[in-house]
Amino acid sequence: MVNKTEKIPGKPLCVAGFRIFRGALVPRAQSRVLGDILQVIEQAPLFSPMTPYGRKMSVRMTSAGRLGWYSDRSGYRYVDRHPSGTSWPSIPDSVLEIWQVFLPDAPQPESCLVNYYGEGARMGLHQDRDEGDFSFPVLSVSLGDDALFRMGGTARRGKTSSIWLKSGDVVVIGGAARLAYHGIDRIRSGSSSLVPGGGRVNLTLRVVR
Ligand code: SIN
Ligand code: MN
Repeated sequence: MVNKTEKIPGKPLCVAGFRIFRGALVPRAQSRVLGDILQVIEQAPLFSPMTPYGRKMSVRMTSAGRLGWYSDRSGYRYVDRHPSGTSWPSIPDSVLEIWQVFLPDAPQPESCLVNYYGEGARMGLHQDRDEGDFSFPVLSVSLGDDALFRMGGTARRGKTSSIWLKSGDVVVIGGAARLAYHGIDRIRSGSSSLVPGGGRVNLTLRVVR
């Protein structure tokens, strides 16, 4: 599954404490994971969350796991069901396997946020701080179109570095980077044919507690 000898992740590229594993998922693994995520989307359709400030996010989202990330006028939070009222689907085994390979000592993730970026979608600089426990990393998996990922420190207006994430890349956001600012400036529409109809799917797995 992982593009190195016997599932041992290779040495990551380290940027501002973010650990980036290039090409961690070979194309076959990317297709398997994407297929499982398309089934999640069938059961729990993508929706466009509202920010607490009343703006519709350009990224469409859904979740798998016990808890899913949600946002509306009342703020950012984790909720136990999809806006339709049904529980979130389980996190697919193919996705849990990735967590297991990169974070074998961490407890199982309780949430897998599925972000879909169509043409023109972006995600502003933010910290992942809606979880009750920051001791475990957030693990991100990129599928489909390339995305320009911006990484900073824990200060809102600090220095940032950017890198193009490609399909199959895994990023581990832990340690000093766990509460670091990050975001997606833009995607390179049409750079991958993995996602039917185009676009980028990003998964972020988290221990929420
Ligand atoms: C996120 O920060 O939730 C998503 C990051 C990404 O799309 O790579
Ligand atoms: Mn984030």
